[in-house]
Order: sequence, then C-alpha cells, then structure tokens
Amino acid sequence: MKKYTFIFPVLIMVFLIGSLALVSCGKEKKEKEEEPLYPEVKKSAEEVSFELGKEIFNGRGTCHTCHKPNEKLVGPPLALIAKTYKEKGASIPDFLTEKSGPIVVPAEYNTMKANFKITKALTDEERKALETYILSFGK
Ligand code: HEC
Repeated sequence: MKKYTFIFPVLIMVFLIGSLALVSCGKEKKEKEEEPLYPEVKKSAEEVSFELGKEIFNGRGTCHTCHKPNEKLVGPPLALIAKTYKEKGASIPDFLTEKSGPIVVPAEYNTMKANFKITKALTDEERKALETYILSFGK
C-alpha cells in the first residue's frame, strides 16, 4: 500500500499538467476579425459592369492581346471601336454573338471571328460588361 501513496500523487500531477497544457493550447487567441482595408462604398451598376468587363477583357477573354486603348495592335484601338459604336448606335453584344457584322475594320473581320467561340460562351451580362468597358474609351 505504501507504494501507491507515493505513485498516486505523481500520477495526479502528471495528469493535471497534461490537461493544463491541452487546455492552454486549445485556447489560442481568436483571430481578430479582419477589418476591411477600405470602407465599403456602394458601387453603381455601371461601375460593377465596367469592372467585370475590364476583368474579362484583360483576363479570360484574352481581348487585350489584340486590342489596346489607343494604339492599333492586331485589332483596332478601343477608342476607335467606342467612337464607331457610339456614332452608329450599334451594339457590341450583337457583334460578339454574330447578330451583326463588322463596322470598324470589316477587311480584318476574319481575325476577330476566331474569338466568337469565347464571346458566345459568355453570359449576356458578361457581354454587356465588355461593351460597358469598351465604350468607356469613347469620348
Ligand atoms: C487575335 C486578335 C484579336 C483578339 C484576341 C480579339 N480581337 Fe477584337 N478585333 C480584332 C481585329 C483584327 C478586329 C478588326 C476586325 C473587325 O472590325 O471586325 C477586331 C474588332 C473588334 C471589334 C469591332 C467590331 C466591328 O464592328 O468591326 C470589337 C467590338 C472587338 N474586336 C471586341 C473584342 C473583344 C471583346 C475581344 C475579347 C473577347 C476581342 N475583340 C479579341 C482582333 C482581335
């Protein structure tokens, strides 16, 4: 019996220290709630559309590889497209779904045609957003 009177307190101590360690590990400080870097500003529908268009134009749409804002690359500059479409009141989503033909550089239409696979797979909202973005380069 004498043996146990010595071993029990030791066991209890070990147990207590062990569980204390566990508890303190689990009590890691809760991360401070992240505060937004900028206060939230309500964006207008136009801004939301512009940003979506910009993102597609420079991203998965790959349009930026041929179109620049003010210089001719493979395709005409966005400023010229915007000017032409505004003057004629034409629709870019219609062009992007082949509902209407080319009015900017018809002679080079074939090069642009290769992109209709991409633009037809977009949603109406996304094609509209591309229009918002492109027309923003017009005066
Ligand atoms: C491989 C190069 C290339 C890529 C990529 C490209 N374009 Fe074009 N784009 C052209 C060329 C060349 C023209 C001129 C032919 C024409 O006017 O149709 C053109 C013309 C246009 C026009 C004017 C159409 C008209 O009425 O004449 C629009 C609008 C346009 N592109 C939008 C886009 C959008 C949006 C994308 C991305 C989804 C895109 N392009 C990607 C080469 C390209």
